[in-house]
Amino acid sequence: MTDAIPELLTFQDPALDAAFDALAEEVRSTDATDPEAFRLYWLGRKQGRLKLLSEAWLKSAPPEARKPLGIRFNRLKQQIEAVLDTPATRMASAAQGIDITLPGTLRAPGIPHPLLKTMHEIVQVFHHLGYSTSLGPQVETDFYNFEALNFPPNHPARDTQDTLVIAGQQSRPARERLLMRTHTSPVQIRTMIDQAPPIRIVIPGKVHRNDAADATHSPIFHQVEGLCVDSNITFSDLKGTLDHAMKALFGSGVKTRFFPSFFPFTEPSADVQISCIFCAGKGCRKCKHSGWIELLGCGMVDPAVFAAITAERRKLNPADNAYDPAQITGFAFGMGVERIAMIQHGITDIGHFYTGDMRFLEQFA
Ligand code: PHE
Repeated sequence: MTDAIPELLTFQDPALDAAFDALAEEVRSTDATDPEAFRLYWLGRKQGRLKLLSEAWLKSAPPEARKPLGIRFNRLKQQIEAVLDTPATRMASAAQGIDITLPGTLRAPGIPHPLLKTMHEIVQVFHHLGYSTSLGPQVETDFYNFEALNFPPNHPARDTQDTLVIAGQQSRPARERLLMRTHTSPVQIRTMIDQAPPIRIVIPGKVHRNDAADATHSPIFHQVEGLCVDSNITFSDLKGTLDHAMKALFGSGVKTRFFPSFFPFTEPSADVQISCIFCAGKGCRKCKHSGWIELLGCGMVDPAVFAAITAERRKLNPADNAYDPAQITGFAFGMGVERIAMIQHGITDIGHFYTGDMRFLEQFA
């Protein structure tokens, strides 16, 4: 191989053919084991052999020889590119940039977030009992979030459910003012205004409260609510339903007990406790040595709620009596998804759910 530019004595076709045949042979005999070096040698922009040859020959060529020369240079360029395009050269070329013997990038399939998984599990338990799912908005009105649920304006029960309110609504009537919902209970109201009994629904969703974040609190968290309204629904239906649900979620060995409590929209109201799943009721740190863990709130729908529903329904149909408290009773319950997931998995800091740390999340794959 020589870098010298062969001299062309004549520009007649036979002479050109001979010269280009020699160059084609030169291309074939050039070492292409390093494709980049081969490419630079022949096709380099400034010092490539093709460039130098065409410069030298075209410069000295008479005008009528330019076209036949051009055609032959094009063909030569194709011959050079053909060498670069053989599978062997392509492999060699790829091997220069990356090590093809390394394993590829693994893309792990996604998994449901542990909170969504628990939320789905809870919802599933109630689907099996014939409940269907209802959803509602996170931005609610004062009426659905509080008033219809028997929290009158300025009632102290509102203090435990302080939340963000949308600014600049002073001119609106109090009941229409917008806020971030503090619980999933407003969906009870929306559903009952829409539908006559019988009702059996579960309501999963996100809720917001003015709570400082700590190991067990987050200003945004999740609840699953339940509502069952029909004729002859009693407190023992509520107890049986929740006892079954807790056994389905935590194992058939758990016991439940009901403690008197207060919610404005249920009467009577109760807090439900389950026997501690960590010590089987013997008493440990997790249950503060009581043997019981408090899990959810519940109660019989307060007649004041049915009265608020009836008032709304009568705006559309003055004769409506679908929620006559003399005929209709119901129960409701609400539970925190984070709290249940933390107990299921023995998680001690609620913050782990929200930071997106893969080392935490991957444990639930
Ligand atoms: N909404 C109540 C809360 O968030 C829970 C609850 C729901 C209580 C349904 C009774 C009935 O605290």
